[in-house]
Amino acid sequence: MEQRSFHHLKSTSLLGHVDLLRGDQLKFAQLLSSKGDVVRFRIGTRVIHFLNHPDDVHRVLVTDADHYNKGPAYRILLGRFLGRGLLTSEGDFWKRQRKLMQPMFHSKYLQNYAETMYSDTRDLLARWSTNQTRDINDDMMRLTLRIVARTLFTADVDADASRIGHALTEVLESSDQTLRSPFWLPMWIPTPLNVRTKRAVEQLDEIIHRIIAERRANPNDGTDLLSMLIAAQDEDGTTMTDQQIRDEAVTIFLAGHETTANALTWTFYLLAKHPQIEAQLHEEVARVVGDGPVTVEHVRQLPYTEMVLKESMRLYPPIPTVARAPKHPVEIGGVQLGYKDRVMITPYTLHHDPRWWDAPQEFRPDRWRKDNEQAINKRAYWPFGGGPRICIGNNFAMMEATIILATIAARYRLALTESAPIIPVPTLTLRPDRAVLMRPVLRQAARIGAAD
Ligand code: HEM
Repeated sequence: MEQRSFHHLKSTSLLGHVDLLRGDQLKFAQLLSSKGDVVRFRIGTRVIHFLNHPDDVHRVLVTDADHYNKGPAYRILLGRFLGRGLLTSEGDFWKRQRKLMQPMFHSKYLQNYAETMYSDTRDLLARWSTNQTRDINDDMMRLTLRIVARTLFTADVDADASRIGHALTEVLESSDQTLRSPFWLPMWIPTPLNVRTKRAVEQLDEIIHRIIAERRANPNDGTDLLSMLIAAQDEDGTTMTDQQIRDEAVTIFLAGHETTANALTWTFYLLAKHPQIEAQLHEEVARVVGDGPVTVEHVRQLPYTEMVLKESMRLYPPIPTVARAPKHPVEIGGVQLGYKDRVMITPYTLHHDPRWWDAPQEFRPDRWRKDNEQAINKRAYWPFGGGPRICIGNNFAMMEATIILATIAARYRLALTESAPIIPVPTLTLRPDRAVLMRPVLRQAARIGAAD
């Protein structure tokens, strides 16, 4: 085996590196990444191993996945709000739920979602006008939330969209703040954060339970995820309780909208900064799609659009870090880990590492061209995670992002209203540090189309 370098980042503080983690986390991750292949540090009493070599990451996520659980951030922190949904559950229970939900993400079903993805994007565009300033991240959040609700739950959440979006943001923020502190206070202690988060979750639950009750009262033709969860039975005939269905539903809402929305926001940001790449994308979309709807068949014929999305998720991976906890003592890269130690994997730093990428800071969709692609070390690219816990929604998200991007690009280019850089902030997702304000400018081709 290739030799790995090990570094122990020592701290004299009782709290360990909590200050660094509270500050600029991306800088901290980059510091870790500059130290070696396996870097040990401490937060409070937790010993964490940062993995910086693609082969070790592959081992933990894929080959040796059975030796690890998800990190406690998922299980405990997100679990407070998501209960035992797919993101937070483990073992046989997770396996059963994953098997149950997987078919809804197969290509056969995905094709049925394309029309909704397109028409929801058109509905958004109907509210845009040229030269008006939009908060693109907010637009993308609402759009992706609506798409998840309508495709997987056949639910219309327009009236509740703000409340759901707000509640899910609170859940992420609360988990993130707790994650950065050395001690995790239980939810029953009425800190302002806990009170706010509990209120948000109550609102969320009220909406989700209403959607479940309505469906139980009026079963539809049974072709969406919600019907599938309601109808699911164990061999002994046991069905899922409303609480279990709620946990899966909230998980899908949370996991399925902000990630895709952020991926699209960063993509529009990058395109606005790179007019030549934007022009190439526009050319492809105009040639393949023309004026008509973007269909599932088009998705396969838009390789450059896909390359743009892949490259955008390399520079701004929507989930910047994933964590694992070994079930028993393990060895990684020649380093021994106890079963209480934690593993930190940061796609963000791997995606920016000059050992695996030429000009890693540059936005170069061309690196994903078929003839170049073999040169890429696939183990240095993990936007959707990997192994058995790979994102269940990865194909859904790629199709959705392609349709949204192509539908918008067929009509508009988006111009930034300010030149100051937007800074990525790593919470559990990689968010922009402020509203991303952009002006839709009607494209020449679309103007001609509109005049016809
Ligand atoms: C660009 C968009 C997306 C990105 C980058 C993304 C990324 C990820 C990543 C990195 C993980 C693995 C976390 C880990 O291993 O600890 C994950 C898991 C998951 N994602 Fe996504 N995701 C996206 C969109 C979606 C969508 C659209 C859905 C659902 C509609 C979804 C549902 C889930 C679920 C349920 C899991 C947990 C799977 C399991 O543990 O079995 N995601 N996602």
